[in-house]
Amino acid sequence: MKRLDGKVALISGTARGQGRAAALRFAAEGALVVGGDLLHEEAVETQRLIAREGGTALTFGPLDVTDEDSVGSWVGEAVAAFGGVDIVYADAGAVGFGAIDGRPYEDFAFTMRAEPASVWLTARAAWPHLVAGRGCLLTVGSTAGLTGSLTNRRTAHSASKGGVIALTRQLAAEGAPYGVRANCVSPGMIDTEGSRGDLLADDHPMRGIARHIPLGRVGTPDDVVHAAVFLASDEASYITGANLVVDGGWSAVLPGATIRKDSPT
Ligand SMILES: NC(=O)c1ccc[n+]([C@@H]2O[C@H](COP(=O)([O-])OP(=O)(O)OC[C@H]3O[C@@H](n4cnc5c(N)ncnc54)[C@H](O)[C@@H]3O)[C@@H](O)[C@H]2O)c1
Repeated sequence: MKRLDGKVALISGTARGQGRAAALRFAAEGALVVGGDLLHEEAVETQRLIAREGGTALTFGPLDVTDEDSVGSWVGEAVAAFGGVDIVYADAGAVGFGAIDGRPYEDFAFTMRAEPASVWLTARAAWPHLVAGRGCLLTVGSTAGLTGSLTNRRTAHSASKGGVIALTRQLAAEGAPYGVRANCVSPGMIDTEGSRGDLLADDHPMRGIARHIPLGRVGTPDDVVHAAVFLASDEASYITGANLVVDGGWSAVLPGATIRKDSPT
């Protein structure tokens, strides 16, 4: 038996990056995946990739997770197709980076809509179905929601991902009486199309960050998805309200030079 056999899993952001990796892996673990993304054609390509591997997926779209009607229709289509919702993986996100000085308010408002507000909209639309099926919610935070950064100026993103982590804990509280679990995965620096166009671009100061990641490398989408599969599976049936950080130790260990075994200190 596979780890997510027969579970209906709504996953947003399935066009690329971590969302596509999650859709492929959840389907390989036996889930019936209902994906969606603003980039609809790419999300449909993810569906094709799943079908080629013998998995089951539908794609709603274009899905805009910041739009109440779009999110409502996405959940409705999943229920109409598969009769319920067992897992919601709110992966889609978008960000306007920038420091506090001189940034337009719209950058901040955009990020708050694209991150915590969209997670709230998704959770609310799916909630009655999660309650009916004692399902689970997965959200995507970030080490940006836990730490400040000298190198990456990101006031909106830090606030929004901190908000996602706090929202997840509150949903864990509200879901617990119904057997609904809510957990967050918080990636550090992950190599995706999104980060390659920005923080991991050749000329970005964050490019050198891998030197400061204790485990010595930038993460992959699969690193994050391994954690998500665990949290969505019955193996995590006693875990709710957790924020599982997937960052190679980046947020837990201060930067510094490694001390060799033969060093006097
Ligand atoms: N890559 C990293 O280093 C990193 C680190 C920490 C957290 N995260 C988070 O992980 C998640 C996935 O990021 P990724 O790196 O795979 O990014 P990505 O940009 O490669 O993929 C994000 C996907 O979300 C979709 N999307 C954006 N806004 C949407 C909307 N309004 N409606 C529907 N779809 C929308 C995009 O079209 C894209 O396909 C995001 O929540 C991101 O904030 C990423």
